[in-house]
Amino acid sequence: MAPSSASASPIPRRPGIDSGIPFLKDGYRFISRTADSLDTDAFRTTILGRPVVCLRGGEAARFFYEGGRFDRSGALPPTVVHLLQDRGSVQTLEGESHSRRKSGFMQLLTGGPEIRLASIAREEFAERALVWRGEESVTFADELPELMTGVAMRWAGIPRDRWDLEARSAELWAMVQQAGSFGPANWAALAGRRRTERWASALIEDARAGRVRAIPQTAFAAVADWTGDDGRPLPVEVAAVELINLLRPIVAVSVFIEFAFLALSRMPKLRTAFRHEDHSELDGFANEIRRRTPFFPAIAGRAMADLDWHGETIPQGRWAMFDIFGTNHDPRLWPDPLRIDPTRYREGRGDVHHIVAQGAGSYDVDHRCPGEPATQGLIAAAIRGLSGTRWSAVGGQDLRVRYSRLPATIRSGLVLNFR
Ligand code: HEM
Repeated sequence: MAPSSASASPIPRRPGIDSGIPFLKDGYRFISRTADSLDTDAFRTTILGRPVVCLRGGEAARFFYEGGRFDRSGALPPTVVHLLQDRGSVQTLEGESHSRRKSGFMQLLTGGPEIRLASIAREEFAERALVWRGEESVTFADELPELMTGVAMRWAGIPRDRWDLEARSAELWAMVQQAGSFGPANWAALAGRRRTERWASALIEDARAGRVRAIPQTAFAAVADWTGDDGRPLPVEVAAVELINLLRPIVAVSVFIEFAFLALSRMPKLRTAFRHEDHSELDGFANEIRRRTPFFPAIAGRAMADLDWHGETIPQGRWAMFDIFGTNHDPRLWPDPLRIDPTRYREGRGDVHHIVAQGAGSYDVDHRCPGEPATQGLIAAAIRGLSGTRWSAVGGQDLRVRYSRLPATIRSGLVLNFR
């Protein structure tokens, strides 16, 4: 059912006491299912005792992302914040300070450097295919994080003798995989994150002191030189956090790449086209993968002032959650939303700007992900890198998606045969 905004109250309350358990059980679908049942795009509830307004849809995307209405401070549980962002990072800044820092990210990730990143990835995938061809089978989920960590390190200009690939890849991957977890798994990932931070801090200090040579024009050199609002170099720990903010998400793109190959294993025509270097649908396909993949289910923010939603007030300080996964599957924006349809963008069945997997609004002033073009390029690069290689999904594996975990995983980890 396509919901209308015809509910009596623009922000009805979800019946029941607390939505914590239903949300934790079904994080990807909780908001849209509830919104459908209440015939609304916004509803009130509490999650683990905290009042929250849940929002979904195209209008909600603009409302949540544009105009600086919501900040991110205190909006996520500390277990998530420490793994994914941490103190002083661009995501925790607002206004002028945010725009200033964000322009640094944009310089590193758009207008050319993202093309270099994609060509490194393509090369690394093509190279690795030679190894995979010699193996009986390959569990993609086990291979991608380390491969992508190497891609990230090389692109960022981290000196090779400092990569410490095995440890860093395990830590960066754990930050992505355990962001939605609680208890021991989360604590272990947090301990790993602290080790990555020490590693990154030492690199920044060494670059500033001239003990290592940061190759000019690379992300490492740039971040070591970034200055704060006061014109002085960023505190070492903040520069370290931002360096990690460039490396970790590149490793996270492994999730999209895994889902891209899952989709391709079920789309033989497209797979054959790509194998024969016909890449005419590649851009549309990569967009569909970003739209369809269950990565971040939702994103939280806090109202910075009293806000008006269709005549009802969302009070200052109120927690809001914008439904990423539901909006990416909203039939009003995406006819036949579950279908991976690379042609929909040119044939008017979807607008690429409505994909909210990586946020919405503008890159410069809003919190939209500066790594969006890079992500698109990396998905395409993995496919191009393996274009010349025959591969198939091994039979008898469990390719169902486990939606109860964040981010969702493919149960058997996608076992491929490259022979
Ligand atoms: C797996 C692919 C990716 C996903 C799913 C993703 C998702 C997101 C989302 C949802 C946001 C908005 C957060 C918010 O609203 O507070 C965001 C912001 C951000 N992303 Fe990504 N991203 C990805 C890849 C990348 C890449 C490749 C980079 C850099 C190399 C990157 C760097 C950032 C940064 C620095 C921010 C903060 C922007 C700000 O606060 O203004 N991301 N990302």
